[in-house]
Amino acid sequence: MKFLHLTALLLILFGIENQLSASANSPLSLIPAPVSLTRQNGNFTLTAGTRIIVSPLNNETRLAADLLALLVKNPTGYAPAISEGKKPADGSVLLILDNSIKNDEGYTLEVTPTGITAKAKTAVGLFYAVQTIRQLLPTEVEKQTIVAGLALTVPACTITDEPRFAYRGMHLDVGRHLFPVTSIKRYIDMLALHKMNTFHWHLTEDQGWRIEIKKYPKLTEIGAYRKETVAGAQKKANNTFDGKPYGGFYTQNEVREIVAYAGSKFITVLPEIEMPGHAVAALASYPELSCTGGPFEVRKLWGVDEDVFCAGNEQAFTFLEDVLTEVMELFPSKYIHIGGDECPKKRWEKCPKCQQRIKDQGLKNELELQSYFIRRIEKFVSSKGRNIIGWDEILEGGLAPGATVMSWRGEAGGIEAAKSGHDVIMTPGKYTYFCYYQSENHDGQPLALGGYVPLELVYGYNPTPKELNPEEQKHILGLQGCLWSEQIQTPEILEFMAYPRTFAMAETGWTPDNGKNFENFVSRLEGLHKRYDAIGISYFKGEYRDTKAAKERK
Ligand code: ACM
Ligand code: ZN
Repeated sequence: MKFLHLTALLLILFGIENQLSASANSPLSLIPAPVSLTRQNGNFTLTAGTRIIVSPLNNETRLAADLLALLVKNPTGYAPAISEGKKPADGSVLLILDNSIKNDEGYTLEVTPTGITAKAKTAVGLFYAVQTIRQLLPTEVEKQTIVAGLALTVPACTITDEPRFAYRGMHLDVGRHLFPVTSIKRYIDMLALHKMNTFHWHLTEDQGWRIEIKKYPKLTEIGAYRKETVAGAQKKANNTFDGKPYGGFYTQNEVREIVAYAGSKFITVLPEIEMPGHAVAALASYPELSCTGGPFEVRKLWGVDEDVFCAGNEQAFTFLEDVLTEVMELFPSKYIHIGGDECPKKRWEKCPKCQQRIKDQGLKNELELQSYFIRRIEKFVSSKGRNIIGWDEILEGGLAPGATVMSWRGEAGGIEAAKSGHDVIMTPGKYTYFCYYQSENHDGQPLALGGYVPLELVYGYNPTPKELNPEEQKHILGLQGCLWSEQIQTPEILEFMAYPRTFAMAETGWTPDNGKNFENFVSRLEGLHKRYDAIGISYFKGEYRDTKAAKERK
């Protein structure tokens, strides 16, 4: 009898012990990993009576409160009341601005069995605190349907958090293929969920001009449509075409809608208007802006076209300034991306107007002519109080003052720019181009551009090269993943290519380097799979390790 008693007691004690340790030690699937996280015992459960108390309550801080209220309302049907105040009431969620927090995007979060308190310097930090609460809540909050009997339980914990980099971006090329507004919004949602803050929208290409410009209607009447598209993987010769007209564009109203939507999630939309190259769709619409006068058709092949804006033609500058004026009215971003990559100089070499410009300006060659082009545009953009970003080719022939460089052909351009005191965003293709395959085995996967960029490689990328001293490293504003859409025909393929590599990029942008660990990241990622399923995104779930590098190490 005694023995049985003791066994029962031990079993009970062991059971309690087990429960405690399970609740305090089971990993929390947070991406990006917070700077510091301490688990506490117990949980807080949001109920019909939970209030969201905000201090101060204004249009900006309300965005964090609204997000949390929606996450509660979607699966339960009840929306917590939002009110202004400072005092924590039992069972409430307190969102409070606090100047003692140093980083503009940082926050602290305290979850106890009686309530939640989030503090941040700005509304952005409060929004990120709520994104963290979201990842701590059951995955059912992502559903748009009522889930009977759902307990909205958040594990007790203390978090102190802030980003490593100020620029945490994802790019999307809509020139080669475009995606519906709903799909762009979902993309923005996924960036916000992972505390990324910039959506780089690549709006113009040889294969299509995608933004309505009121002053130049032919850009979208003509430039937004191509007759047909090269079928499958492009070859050096003997390509076949699909015979299907393709095109479309975003109206200015749609652009405003997307900019506002992103803004409500504290995401800046960085617009890119390509120049002087990747301009064939514009030249098909207005051939007088070229060196030869055309005619041109919107490009049906991928790759780089020899026809570019004429650098000797004043009309080309007037056109681009007019376009940029409308773009700056639509996009409130501090930066305007002006492309600058992959501009062949073949036409300029033969063009009397371009050669005259070289002479008049005392330039050495066509590289300096490209630099003249970019400097002139930079002057215009900065006269409007904005700054330009360009791909690393803008270094050739001399960098425009005030220009920020996106280093895509490796890190060399970024290193050179940072050493000369320019800001840099790291996007080296080898680690950040998500249009490449994410596994060695392509079975069942959509056709991608060649290349191999597995999750482990993306995750392991550190955007602060050791060639830079600590002072120079401050010029690295952050990093970005890029999605070039030659082989991305649908929103589903877009998501499959973007995720989860985007989430790895998000963690590098946010989490301190010494707080990163790939195995741990993958276990948190797998913990988020159910959440992604509830959201309904498509994502890659195969081999996450860099199998090629593993073989080479052997
Ligand atoms: C680029 O990939 N051409 C920037
Ligand atoms: Zn010319």
